[in-house]
Amino acid sequence: MKNRVLSGIRATGRLHLGNYLGAVKGMLALQDNADYETFYMVADVHTITTPYNVEELRKNRREVILDYLAAGLDPEKSVIFQQSEVNEHIELAFLFSSVVTIAKMQHLPTFKDKVKQHPDSATMALLNYPILMASDILIYNASMVPVGIDQEPHLEVAREIARRMNADFRTNFAEPKRFGTKGEYVPSLTGEGKMSKSVEGSYINLTDSLEDIKKALARVVTDSGRGTVRKKEGLREYYYEDENGRLSEGVGALLKFVELFQGFDKRREYEQMYDGDGIRYGDLKSSLADAIFAELSPIQEKRKELEANPEYVDKIIEEGNKKAREVAAQTLEEVKKKMGLAS
Ligand code: TRP
Repeated sequence: MKNRVLSGIRATGRLHLGNYLGAVKGMLALQDNADYETFYMVADVHTITTPYNVEELRKNRREVILDYLAAGLDPEKSVIFQQSEVNEHIELAFLFSSVVTIAKMQHLPTFKDKVKQHPDSATMALLNYPILMASDILIYNASMVPVGIDQEPHLEVAREIARRMNADFRTNFAEPKRFGTKGEYVPSLTGEGKMSKSVEGSYINLTDSLEDIKKALARVVTDSGRGTVRKKEGLREYYYEDENGRLSEGVGALLKFVELFQGFDKRREYEQMYDGDGIRYGDLKSSLADAIFAELSPIQEKRKELEANPEYVDKIIEEGNKKAREVAAQTLEEVKKKMGLAS
């Protein structure tokens, strides 16, 4: 049997560069590798774990699927589906919750962060988020999961659940590994933390025009353009201290984008300018905007075709849901039997 892959993105709107570089690029690489059978979903059930709007959820689910297809997910090679249409995910998650302690879930950094963002909405659904994600993965017995590095704590939970289930009920779950990409950490344009839908001004969407991209980059806070490149122990990225002793996280973010879209050599070039005569950020931002747009423009053209063909998209999702259900139902049935729940 082929190794299986599963990944998903929550239905919070159009995909941004962080989703694209951290998750979608990995999904594409594995889809094109004949050793893998790939399952890619829109995680709409996960979307209800934090406050949301019903109409927007309906709309956003479609946006994610359109962006997936536009970016190159191929229904001939991958099963593309909607999480909420495969009921088995939720049922298996409940069964899994019997081997996970409340204390364990409460201490996850991802849970604590979300509670900080939404202090009045620390719901049971939010506490159960990682268990549902483990179910998404293990129900296909996926061994590889292309997601951003911020999802590592959730993968650890999935591995622990696999081990516990295998030990207690003699199931045969694989322990899933994360499949990383070179863009697995995409910084926020605000210079603080990662690019995220929940932080206004932090992201560039795949559907943004050249004008939008230029505006987004124009807002990134820079410095005098000359100074010293530093790498601090324990810090993820380089940081830049200009001649006035100013530390701009925005400069680090810009140079990371240069590396991702124009290559590492280009980044080194700018760093040498920083050490020497200075960077002119206007020029840097303008050539970076062009490079980002060059990568996005074929995706945007494909998306327009798909938008004009809604029945075709509906059919892809319907077929994907059906294929996913077949596999998921089989796993659930086996697990129930092993847990003493079905005859
Ligand atoms: N938690 C993931 C994120 O925020 C989304 C997700 C839900 C997911 N289920 C998944 C990712 C299963 C990979 C596998 O990005």
